[in-house]
Amino acid sequence: MILSSKTCFKTRAVLPIFLLLLVVLEVVLCASASADIKLPEPLTEGGSGIFALLKSRASAASGSYPTGQVSQEELSTLLWAASGLNRPGKGWTVPMAMGREPYCKVYVAGDEGTFLYDWKEHSLKEISKDNVKSTIGTQPFVAKASHVLIFVTDGKALGSLNNARGAEWAYVAVGSMTQNVYLAADSLNIGVRYMASLSGDVTRASLRLEEGDVPICIMPIGKR
Ligand SMILES: Cc1cc2nc3c(=O)[nH]c(=O)nc-3n(C[C@H](O)[C@H](O)[C@H](O)COP(=O)(O)O)c2cc1C
Repeated sequence: MILSSKTCFKTRAVLPIFLLLLVVLEVVLCASASADIKLPEPLTEGGSGIFALLKSRASAASGSYPTGQVSQEELSTLLWAASGLNRPGKGWTVPMAMGREPYCKVYVAGDEGTFLYDWKEHSLKEISKDNVKSTIGTQPFVAKASHVLIFVTDGKALGSLNNARGAEWAYVAVGSMTQNVYLAADSLNIGVRYMASLSGDVTRASLRLEEGDVPICIMPIGKR
């Protein structure tokens, strides 16, 4: 088919607009693309001995909270210590009732956004690009930490056990998880503190928690 000169002119005029729209679309898609992070391998040997760590375990002082940046390698080790897989297939750094998959989740809030730790893939799934450190805690020093770990009961993973019994299990699990973080953090010269004080509603909204999920505590972390 032979195009008339009028049609050719129209096509030529529309083409740049079409290309421009394609570029704009690509920019928008790139900006909103999720930025999940595959974590580096955690440190699984070396460091201080367990008895030395037990002797030195202490919460970082709220008045002079360490604010140094925690690296991705260090974050990887702390998250693995909290609830990472430590055997092929099934088995974690903390005991889980009836050998169930972890029923407590760990979220990470940092300058770069807010993420959920995925123990299966040892990666961080992006929740949002928002820095929520300054709003989830109720004590001002939380905002200055490098990252804040947030421990949340996983209603879906508890399933039919999302009742008083399941809540007990969840608190036991968070106790083990946070103690592991204390010890691993100390070995990496990172300050940490267990904190029950958090803004419940803000945390729920920021982490986009589901109905059965319960935020239990936060742990701000900062390199000494
Ligand atoms: C269940 C629990 C809740 C806590 N909540 C807070 C808190 O909201 N804010 C805070 O600054 N510290 C909190 N802490 C930290 C304690 O104040 C701290 O562990 C205590 O002073 C003992 O110090 P140590 O950990 O150095 O032994 C909490 C500790 C626990 C075990």
